[in-house]
Amino acid sequence: MEVLARLGELESTYAVVPDEQALISGKMIDWADSGIVDVIVTTGGTGLGPRDVTPEATLAVVDRLVPGMAEAIRAESLKKTPHAMLSRAVCGIRGSCLIINLPGSPKAVRECLETILPALPHAVDILRGGVTDCADVSGERP
Ligand code: MTE
Repeated sequence: MEVLARLGELESTYAVVPDEQALISGKMIDWADSGIVDVIVTTGGTGLGPRDVTPEATLAVVDRLVPGMAEAIRAESLKKTPHAMLSRAVCGIRGSCLIINLPGSPKAVRECLETILPALPHAVDILRGGVTDCADVSGERP
């Protein structure tokens, strides 16, 4: 949360959900369809274990994938650990809600949030319908 807090004042909540695809998908649907949640971040369940079903739960509910976010997370994470290639995390959109899978360790969560943070406000603006011309907000690195 302290990484996300850098974006300014945020309202947030969390839920601990068992490693069951239907329960994870159900929580995502509840929150995404509430109309008041811009971003859902999941942590854990992206690996190769039999109980790692978060990507499948996410794929079952998103309308469209945002592959670039997952690619950026994996590319940056690979600079930290070769184990990053073991995360099957996906990112996608359900309605106007962005759903982002992250690995489960607190260290990994911090590292991955650092990667996506610079693009997150622009993503939310677009999903809220507030951006008509991306040229005005190039987001170029200094
Ligand atoms: N990504 C980053 N940035 N840092 C990490 O420490 N750990 C990896 C990987 N991605 C890691 C990471 C490990 S060890 C695993 S097994 C996979 O994420 C899946 O983690 P999960 O099953 O907790 O989702």
